[in-house]
Amino acid sequence: MLSPDAPIGIFDSGVGGLSVLRHIQAQLPHEHLLYFADSSFAPYGDKPEDVVVARVLSIADYLATHGVKALVVACNTATVAAVRELRERYPAMPIVGVEPGLKPGAASTRNGKVGVLATERTLLGSKFLALRDQIHEATGADFLLQPCVGLADQIEFKELDSGETAAMLERYIHPLLDQGADTLVLGCTHYPLVRASIERVLARAGRADVVLIDTGDAVARQLARLLEAEHLLRPAGEQPASLTAFTSASSAALTVAFTSLLGIDPPVHEVEIAVPVVSQ
Ligand code: DGL
Repeated sequence: MLSPDAPIGIFDSGVGGLSVLRHIQAQLPHEHLLYFADSSFAPYGDKPEDVVVARVLSIADYLATHGVKALVVACNTATVAAVRELRERYPAMPIVGVEPGLKPGAASTRNGKVGVLATERTLLGSKFLALRDQIHEATGADFLLQPCVGLADQIEFKELDSGETAAMLERYIHPLLDQGADTLVLGCTHYPLVRASIERVLARAGRADVVLIDTGDAVARQLARLLEAEHLLRPAGEQPASLTAFTSASSAALTVAFTSLLGIDPPVHEVEIAVPVVSQ
């Protein structure tokens, strides 16, 4: 039996999910939150799908041992690969995934050309490609897909403002602008963390008019809707809401990420998760 007082589990391959967590904290300030950064196994984006599925199930199982009442897969790559398997494993639990915002991208474009920045794994996923075809058919929008190999890693290693990250962004964004994109979907939860650098690339290209789509806010709203429908919202009580973090890598690194990205300093615990064995 799920209880409104139980925590919500949120996870990502690393620090990218903090771009979703900040919206959840803002919209659901009374909820207890557990955040899991799987930084020792990051990036997910260059790993085979079955490996990502096995890993995601292990992380969800770990969070389930803490009695979570809901799960937020704050990672596009993990959602595209594994949300179906997660829902099969935890049928009674509200599960919210994050997918590249193709629908808001199609709603925002003025010329029908939408660039999508995401990991290779996300852009190869059959769930993602089906969504792309469906929205293209419904709206006529063309989606220009740009795999951003290495970008999540740069952000994971806190190279937010480095010259190398800026050069990588130029390399990935310019071809989309050359093809006429007037809207860019940030299809990986790490990317909103370099939004300022992306805006600088656009400004330098004389394209400050390009609209950026980040679905963190919509994900938090969807979570609130699901919790309300299941009568699982935690009321404002005497006990303040808590945030506890877990990482499969170094707690010091995650602490630095929380402090520098969100300005908060939750307790962080190091956890070992067995490397998934995937049968051939
Ligand atoms: N933050 C993850 C996403 O939204 C991916 C980063 C990775 O490759 O691990 O896709």
